[in-house]
Parts: sequence; C-alpha cells; structure tokens
Amino acid sequence: MEITKDIRYIGVDDTDIDLFEGQYPVENGMSYNSYVILDEKIAVLDSVDAGFVDEWLDKLAAVLDGRLPDYLIVQHMEPDHSAGIARFMEAYPEAVIVSSMPAFNMVKNYFGTDYAARRMVIKEGSTLSLGNHELRFIGAPMVHWPEVMMTYDASEKILFTADAFGKFGTVAADEEWLPEARRYYIGIVGKFGVQVQNLLKKAVALDIQMICPLHGPILTENLGYYVDLYQKWSSYTPEQEGVCIAYASVYGHTAEAAELLAQELIDRGCPHVVTVDLTREDVSEAVQNAFCYSKLVLCSVTYNAGLFPAMQQFITQLVERNFQNRTVAFVENGSWAPTAGKAMKTMLENCKNITFAEHGVTIRAALNEDSRGQIAALAEELAE
Ligand code: FEO
Repeated sequence: MEITKDIRYIGVDDTDIDLFEGQYPVENGMSYNSYVILDEKIAVLDSVDAGFVDEWLDKLAAVLDGRLPDYLIVQHMEPDHSAGIARFMEAYPEAVIVSSMPAFNMVKNYFGTDYAARRMVIKEGSTLSLGNHELRFIGAPMVHWPEVMMTYDASEKILFTADAFGKFGTVAADEEWLPEARRYYIGIVGKFGVQVQNLLKKAVALDIQMICPLHGPILTENLGYYVDLYQKWSSYTPEQEGVCIAYASVYGHTAEAAELLAQELIDRGCPHVVTVDLTREDVSEAVQNAFCYSKLVLCSVTYNAGLFPAMQQFITQLVERNFQNRTVAFVENGSWAPTAGKAMKTMLENCKNITFAEHGVTIRAALNEDSRGQIAALAEELAE
C-alpha cells in the first residue's frame, strides 16, 4: 500500500487474535504496522508479531522489487513489533539496525545477540539521512516501554509514533476510531500520562501532516482532534462531563440500585450517564468509561467482609493507571454488615485530586424507602 510516493505500508492485520497482550479482548483483531521509506537508502520501520513474519517479509520483498534495505529502524521492542528482527537480519546481511541503546539491550535478551557489528545507536535528536528523507529521532520513553524512539520525517511531515495514536482493531476494521483508541490508550499507556505529556510537548513543535502509528489506521486529517484527545487523556482531564456507574452485583439488588441511580440522574438532566456491569463486561471497557467521564459511582456488594472480586479488580486497574481528577461516590450493599463502601474508598485514598461525594448509599440486601431516598440525594448532588 502506497502512503506517499516514497513510503509504503507493509503491516499486517491479525484477525485470529482474541486477547491482545494476553488481557484485552479484541473483537475486531489487531494490526501490526510496518513501513518502508524508499530513497537512495532504504529504511524499514519496525517488524510485526511472530505469527506474521513470513507475510511481512514477503510484503517487504515485493516493495523492494530487487533492491536491498539499508536500515531496520526499531522504534519499539515489544514483540508485537519486533518478532521479525532476526529473520530480517538473516535475509539482508548488509542491513543495519537503528535503535536506542535500551532497545539493543532488549534485542540481546530476545535474540541472543545485540548485533554489535551491525547497529547504529540513536538517541534524542539523532538524525539519519536516506537521501531526500532526513529522519530525526524523538525519545518517547514509557510510551510504551523505556526504549521507545519515534521517527520524524521532515520532508514528508510524517511522525511515526510507535504505539502512540494506535488502537485495537485491524486496519480494515469498519469501526469508529475513538472507542477502541481510548480503550487501547487507557489500558496500555494510561499509567504513563507524564511521559505522554513530555512527548506531546516535543510533538507540537513539529509540522505534522500525517501520523503513522504501529497499530490501527494512519491518521491524515484533522490531526488536532487526535492530539487534543491525547492531551486530555495524558493529563487525566475528563473527556466528557458525565457519570459512569460501575456495579458489581450478585443477586441483582445492587444492579437495581445502579440502574435507579442512572435514571434519577437522567431525570435531573445529566447529559451523559453510562452503567457498566463489572461482572459481565470486560474490565478494560469499564476502565475506559471511568476515564472518559468526570464522575464515577462505584456500587458493590460486600463479599468476604471486603469487595466483590470484579470491583476489586476494577479499582486496582484504575489505581494502577493513576486515576485522578474525578468525583467519586459509593453505593454499598451488605445483607448483615456492609463494608464495601469503606473498602472502595480505602483503595482510592492515594489517588490524586479525587473529590468524594458527600452522599453515599448503604443498602441492606434490597432497596427500601430509606436507600431509595439516599439514591435520590446522591443523584441530586451528582447532577449539580
Ligand atoms: Fe504495540 Fe507496546 O507494543
């Protein structure tokens, strides 16, 4: 696939994968993107996942059309992008790997050699001339691993962004970019907001007409929209005013409370209200909703004098991703000794800038007049 006159796409779509990184369900598969810049010198940017190395090498050979590549630029060493390194180096014995020193340490760990005689070590600001294409490398540590380098092609005004600006789903997937890009971002680099902010400061200084990530579609239009979302996500700024109600229910009473609260909020004109059943929906879906909205209500039964496992896992994932800058409220249920509210609050107490709602809800087994009143009071507070 031709991206520009000199740049080709040689990535692959993986439609067989069920769990990305062993944990994220990917209903519409995943893409592992790779690019070739054809100039006086030829550079290949990243390889692909292990199951697709043959397909990738075939695509590369077709693009090369008898020429030989000079460089394999390794922007990111995670195996979904690096599994083809050894096969590439065997196939093209004159080629040189271009990457950061931390990446070469990983190359040695993965492949048993760091290609000391066939490597070019780059760091922030290093450049590589291919002829007409002058590449400049931009350090992006922890976006998503410590070795990551991005590549800016000034002649084409393209930023190759490694994992950043990627999404779940194949390139061919017919779906909206935002939901799966948000779930991908929050899940994979949500913890590293500071590092993403550092990257964005460097990126805004560049003239960028196209973003070429290692997953998902190439972004060519309205780039400010994507950068603005990354600004929000990485600064933990709510994307939308609204309420996410996440619940863990066993016999349905806590679910009933969650749905009642949602209705009370809608009745009060709350613009966006979503409910998430933590026992049925994947936790990554719940996490992305929690990060999207400005307010979060956690509703859980008490279980073994603590939290129901689905709620425990959900809050753990929020905390791991530096959940902050939100209003949080609690709905607890317990047939004889409700303690879930306290347990949930304790898990969140080290998160930055969390405003805990004044009103909480305690249900003893089933909703009654008292707990319905508490739900109404909480809705009143959250709808303000
Ligand atoms: Fe797509 Fe961090 O690898």
